Amino acid sequence: MTNKRILIRGAAAVLPSGLARTNILIDSGKIIAVDASSNAAADEIIDASGLVLLPGAIDDQVHFREPGLTHKEDIETGSLGCAAGGITTFLEMPNTNPTTTTCEALRWKYHRAAQVSRVNFGFYVGATEFNIEELQKASTLAPGIKIFIGSSTGDLLVDEQSALERIFAETTLPICAHCEDETTVRANRAALGDELTIHDHSRIRDAQAALIATRRAIDLAQRHQHRFHVLHVSTAAEIPAVAEGGKYITAEVCPHHLFFSTADYDRLGSLIQMNPSVKAPDDALQLWDALTAGKIQVVATDHAPHTLQEKSASYPKSPSGLPAVENCMALFLNQANLGKCDLTQIASWMSDAPARIWGLVGKGRIAVGYDADLVLVDMQREKTIRNSEQLTRSGWSPWAGETLRGWPVRTLVGGETVFRDGHVDKFLRGRAVVCDHARGGFWSTRDGIGL
Ligand code: DOR
Repeated sequence: MTNKRILIRGAAAVLPSGLARTNILIDSGKIIAVDASSNAAADEIIDASGLVLLPGAIDDQVHFREPGLTHKEDIETGSLGCAAGGITTFLEMPNTNPTTTTCEALRWKYHRAAQVSRVNFGFYVGATEFNIEELQKASTLAPGIKIFIGSSTGDLLVDEQSALERIFAETTLPICAHCEDETTVRANRAALGDELTIHDHSRIRDAQAALIATRRAIDLAQRHQHRFHVLHVSTAAEIPAVAEGGKYITAEVCPHHLFFSTADYDRLGSLIQMNPSVKAPDDALQLWDALTAGKIQVVATDHAPHTLQEKSASYPKSPSGLPAVENCMALFLNQANLGKCDLTQIASWMSDAPARIWGLVGKGRIAVGYDADLVLVDMQREKTIRNSEQLTRSGWSPWAGETLRGWPVRTLVGGETVFRDGHVDKFLRGRAVVCDHARGGFWSTRDGIGL
């Protein structure tokens, strides 16, 4: 964080009240005025005319692979991708090696991130059948608890009902979960035999598997009156369950479930192998409608890198997961240019909603008193995504070859420019998020951005 005064002049800023051309004054890493004079005294003036200023994105689902799997990614390389992609805060998942299922493992990650991460960070604590005390003690460290109700990459899995009941009953942190029903997935797999192709991934991890587990988790949350966030909704069938889940329930969708479908397997093969799997083209369309209708609150990446070599193994040996932090915001800015959503919605999905769900103090909005975590985007800039230009370690993108219009050009974390015109600063470091779960509270759209 810098003691400098910085004036961002002439940007079209996405404020809680909507889009307005204004001047933003920053002091000591915080926004101190949103309607500053264009002549306000400042140590640095950023001429942002022609650019849009958004609150920095908060990606509440990334897998950065450190410790243990750092040939795929580490906290530093993941954070470089965030900075370039307009993500100023990430919340990272516990399926590393060792898993993040103790307070000691959590403290290790926070310590490591403070040394290497260019953007702000938080780490979830992972649930097992036997670590309830750790989940309780983690309430001052983690933004939330992650449960793999269905198995995915790694061996974290809590499928047993009594263990799930205990976690929802005896912990206080908000819970999020990977919802795919293990029994259904195993039965589908057994029914398909051994001659499998990548198309079978969406038959094994089918819509029914997602729906059963999502309903099961929502039922637990409702009965135990526990805040619960459904990660990566992938099917149209889940939409009513999350939309009508009530005040304890929020949900998110990821770009691969919106922009890819089973129709893309012939073209992209295991590059789009993800858990939950991509579904039918109509699921993707209905997820878009649910997002724009406010039935799903958050867009997150589920950035889950594997090397291209690992991905090239034949299915089912190929691992599930794809990298996305660098390109996610641009994918949505491009959609805004195409008229499918607007900038206020993007700020709500990627900044304001995750900040409110996880109770992130000072995050998610361009408003006085909030942290100066900001991204300047050029809505006219056109760029083709290329594997050779990816900053994250795996060095590829499933969107390679696509030309998008609308890109982040400058990212500020705590008022410091961490990314500018293709380059990430070497020396700046982000900070741990501070969570006030009382502030996160229950979900209400009433005081959201643009509402
Ligand atoms: O496809 C996936 N890969 N889904 C997950 O939930 C985990 C992730 C990973 O860590 O590779």
